[in-house]
Amino acid sequence: MATAPAVSNEVEVKYTKCLIDGEWVDAVGGRTFETINPSTGDVIAHVSEGDEPDVDKAVKAARRAFEAGPWTRMTATQRGRLMFKLADLIEDNAEELARLETLDNGKTYQDSLKIDVPLTVACYRYYAGWADKIQGKTIPINGPYFCYTRHEPVGVCGQIIPWNFPMLMQSWKWGPALAAGNTVVLKPAEQTPLTALYISQLAMEAGYPPGVINVIPGMGPTAGGAIAKHMDIDKVAFTGSTDVGHLIMEAAGKSNLKRVSLELGGKSPNVVFADANLDEAVEGAFFALFFNQGQCCCAGSRLFVEEKIHDEFVGKLVEKARHRRVGDPFDSQTEQGPQVSREQFDRVMGYINSGKEQGAPMLCGGGRVGDRGFFIEPTVFDDVRDDMTIAQEEIFGPVMSVMKFQNTDEVIDRANRTAYGLAAAVWTKDIEKAMRIANGVRAGTVWVNCYDVFDAAAPFGGFKKSGIGRELSEYALEHYTEVKTVTVKL
Ligand code: NAI
Ligand code: MG
Repeated sequence: MATAPAVSNEVEVKYTKCLIDGEWVDAVGGRTFETINPSTGDVIAHVSEGDEPDVDKAVKAARRAFEAGPWTRMTATQRGRLMFKLADLIEDNAEELARLETLDNGKTYQDSLKIDVPLTVACYRYYAGWADKIQGKTIPINGPYFCYTRHEPVGVCGQIIPWNFPMLMQSWKWGPALAAGNTVVLKPAEQTPLTALYISQLAMEAGYPPGVINVIPGMGPTAGGAIAKHMDIDKVAFTGSTDVGHLIMEAAGKSNLKRVSLELGGKSPNVVFADANLDEAVEGAFFALFFNQGQCCCAGSRLFVEEKIHDEFVGKLVEKARHRRVGDPFDSQTEQGPQVSREQFDRVMGYINSGKEQGAPMLCGGGRVGDRGFFIEPTVFDDVRDDMTIAQEEIFGPVMSVMKFQNTDEVIDRANRTAYGLAAAVWTKDIEKAMRIANGVRAGTVWVNCYDVFDAAAPFGGFKKSGIGRELSEYALEHYTEVKTVTVKL
């Protein structure tokens, strides 16, 4: 394990309550929950545990803010300026936010500071720019009529986010929602509520009027469930597991048919052809899986390597995995921190056992690192068969599954044989092979000779059970606007 923190992990936790109507308040039931430091297992803070009554109060505040008050009178340009201000405040507080994210989630401080914070800031700036560019069309219908569309906000939006990129997921939700003039009730993940609360305070300082943003920390089935079934929430956006995605959609269907967008799991194929630049492909395939402790919805978790280069390729991967520095995420030398929670640690270890039991050769890793916190050794399984559990289910940890293939048709067919369709990648110098994969794989994003390239301007989301709708980009605005057709007799 790496030692001696190079960056201080001292950070004062200032915001731990529910934010409703511009006020920090305790949960109605008076309950709190512990948020844990996954590097040690110690309690960081006690956070208000919101439930149905808190969600209800928040929805009432969000409804009032949507229908009356300063938010409704603001121009689109003013909405944009508020969001630019929020982005500036996040940037001004980058180091404190990065410390808080690392403390609560376990990702390395370097990643929090150099990846999560800048992407979050960029997302808010991107949507700040959209605020005054959301517009309808004039339509030449038949007859003496003037017909046009207005793109109006949907209303009160419930947003439920996961723990793997806490502040970034908040920006993916708030960016398009607030740019389009909606009001929001957000539930952060119970594992990582702290940056969402901090950023909510910054949003109030930026000048968002009371009730426009409301945040209810709490558990999934209670606070999250209350959002999904609430009769006065117009739209719910969810990122997390496919199982919960089913529940959200069901609750929306049984309540008020609120609009649903879902960004769910994945089992993304990453295809390496023999003609690829080998060292770049090794780097890319390694990053595709091990980045963020393997806790990425789009992790390249099915690595298909062309048979001819298989042995050399896997040799290099294993070498890298063996040398990966796992340990204190505040140490600047550390490359991999802990899994987010005891539960995720156990789940990942369960998948490692299943890989072994089903007979996949484990080339390295497989064990715990240290004796406190939730650290797992980078693990590589070779010769994984398509029907093994580790090839079908989302592991969400530092566990790589390598498979061999021989030709393009075969690998496209096999790449598509899961219930998911979030992302895919291909490594080759042959443009024809690259395009055949890009067109043939059923996935919302395909990377060619790169992986995990994210930009607020590029849409992201899944085919099949990986979700419904697209986040980021202009496409996300579709989920946060209703189209109204106005026809005027001339
Ligand atoms: P989860 O889907 O239970 O949690 C995600 C969010 O949904 C959290 O805010 C949680 O409180 C909320 N939630 C949970 N149950 C709910 C319910 N019944 N109604 C409304 N909201 C609910 O995911 P979890 O248990 O943290 O992780 C399990 C697996 O899910 C991971 O191993 C991974 O495979 C997948 N996952 C995928 C993510 C993605 O980015 N697509 C993010 C997090 C987890
Ligand atoms: Mg935590």
